[in-house]
Amino acid sequence: MKLNIAVLPGDGIGKEIIEQAKKVVVAIADNFAHDVNFTHAIVGATAIDKTGNPFPDETFEICKASDAVLFGAIGDPKYDNDPKAKVRPEQGLLSMRKKLGLYANLRPVTTFKSLLGKSPIRQDLVQNVDILVIRELTGGIYFGEKGRTDNGNTAFDTNTYTREEIDRIVRLACDYAMKRDKKLTVVDKANVLETSRLWRETAQEIIKEYDGLETEYMFVDNAAMQLIQGPGNFDVMVTENMFGDILTDEASVITGSLGLLPSASIGSSTSVFEPIHGSYPQAAGKNIANPLGTILSAAMMFEYAFNLKDEARLIEEAVEKSLEENYSTEDINRNNPRSTSEVGDWIVKFIQGIK
Ligand code: IPM
Ligand code: MG
Repeated sequence: MKLNIAVLPGDGIGKEIIEQAKKVVVAIADNFAHDVNFTHAIVGATAIDKTGNPFPDETFEICKASDAVLFGAIGDPKYDNDPKAKVRPEQGLLSMRKKLGLYANLRPVTTFKSLLGKSPIRQDLVQNVDILVIRELTGGIYFGEKGRTDNGNTAFDTNTYTREEIDRIVRLACDYAMKRDKKLTVVDKANVLETSRLWRETAQEIIKEYDGLETEYMFVDNAAMQLIQGPGNFDVMVTENMFGDILTDEASVITGSLGLLPSASIGSSTSVFEPIHGSYPQAAGKNIANPLGTILSAAMMFEYAFNLKDEARLIEEAVEKSLEENYSTEDINRNNPRSTSEVGDWIVKFIQGIK
């Protein structure tokens, strides 16, 4: 199969981790006789420095013309520490999501047997965790009207959702739940927010169409607690943009490290595959960041963008084996850490049948 992949490393550790994912994609392509073609493009702070725009048109065109996008990370402290900055790297990620119509962000949270002891949560609570968090990605407070009034002394961000936006994401979540354990948790704040009441009202209607689907509604504050107290009770969770952002960082701790979680953003055009973590600027250029979230995102790419499940499974198996061998970066291996590129090389060798 011909695989045309746009590669957007972005900022911070983006370059290093994307390099590992590319090596893995090439190894898989060799193994399964696919023809892979990478096209690189800039995004984020890197793109602001070169063009003034965090998501240049050229990058957008490259994404649209590709079968899938592999994305690294975005963000730079020079903007974080300057709240008055007119352009911000994160706007690159947000406009990419909006322009490619990526309304659904799939964030699977599972535990690896060999890492059970590394989770800050008790082993008996995390051992059977297998959650798919579906985060709405192109609406809500991220994209609502925002601004300042009162000579800059009052600020506002508006949370807006239309019935259509809620409908399509809840439907997608129901479809995924039906293929899994048939349990859906709709997370909202319907006791306070009008948008959440529209979420709940819309979800209640859609769910009637799904026979045999067990549904629960949960306020986001309660969900944050239940995720720690009983993560094994969840199957598919669906929620709005901001709640999904926060809950998935929280959920990543169950696994043992934020560096392990992949994601797929899907919608109306090319899908994007990216780790859920940020650009980790303190580690940039040091070859210490965990590349597994990005490598697992490449596995999701094979599955979701190309429907190549054997290829995806082989990557997942390689990752699992590397963790069993304790061949991992310092976030999960304090005593004998391996570098970013060493972990990438190990995974490649496993795929080539050398390990
Ligand atoms: C994520 C990130 C982004 C988000 C940032 C970098 C804008 O935290 O993908 O979860 O908030 O969506
Ligand atoms: Mg986030």
